[in-house]
Amino acid sequence: MKRPYVIIVSEVSVDGKLTLYRGASSKELMSLMDEEAYRYLHEIRAKVDGIMVGCETVRTDNPSLTVRYVKGKNPVRVIPCSTANVPIDANILNTEEAKTIIATTKRAPAERLKKIEEKGAEIIVAGEELVDFDALLPELYDRGIKTLMVEGGASINWEFIRRRAVDEIRLIHLPVIVGGENVPTLVGGEGIKRLKNLLHLRIRAHFKRGHQLITEWEVVS
Ligand SMILES: NC(=O)c1ccc[n+]([C@@H]2O[C@H](COP(=O)([O-])OP(=O)(O)OC[C@H]3O[C@@H](n4cnc5c(N)ncnc54)[C@H](OP(=O)(O)O)[C@@H]3O)[C@@H](O)[C@H]2O)c1
Repeated sequence: MKRPYVIIVSEVSVDGKLTLYRGASSKELMSLMDEEAYRYLHEIRAKVDGIMVGCETVRTDNPSLTVRYVKGKNPVRVIPCSTANVPIDANILNTEEAKTIIATTKRAPAERLKKIEEKGAEIIVAGEELVDFDALLPELYDRGIKTLMVEGGASINWEFIRRRAVDEIRLIHLPVIVGGENVPTLVGGEGIKRLKNLLHLRIRAHFKRGHQLITEWEVVS
């Protein structure tokens, strides 16, 4: 499949959690990160063509997804959202700061799409029920998004893992334990379940930035 080079980047607790409880904004957990960790994150943002988070992350965290801690250009923001249910005052719809693409499906009401387009965002319709990543990723590539950073959440990460459309994983490990069976971890979805199908990684680098451990992994197979 013609697709961008994909890097999943995430802040995780030592036990792999993305947030404090299901439905909580990860901004609370991220408040533990020191400035060096933010710089690391924003250095990556400044180097990629596109950045993606799922619609649920937009609704719970209201991120801006811009480059602020270092100098550099803002990547194009791509939000998969099957019915285009994005708050119209969401930070990602401030298109004066950066470009935004809402990737949606045929289920999205025309009225909602019109309002989003009026805010200056582009719409890509890919799929019937949920956003079809097999259709979306080549479209992004054709629009010049050759490198894509995926910043979660768990469901969107799973979409990339399950179709093995990921090249690297970079983690900022927060030195805390969250616990909780239903708290989202790095990868959600159904899970791989079979040993022979696991995604294999090779560690490329590990180092400290501020008080956080950073690990960088290449996908082997
Ligand atoms: N620590 C971190 O680095 C980090 C980063 C990001 C997020 N988070 C946290 O993760 C949590 C959100 O994660 P999440 O897994 O619930 O949601 P998510 O991955 O952010 O978004 C999932 C949503 O995307 C939409 N979607 C469209 N097409 C899809 C497809 N093909 N497959 C799956 N979803 C599709 C669906 O919403 P529609 O039904 O509206 O289409 C779905 O509910 C929040 O608590 C957030 O704070 C943490």
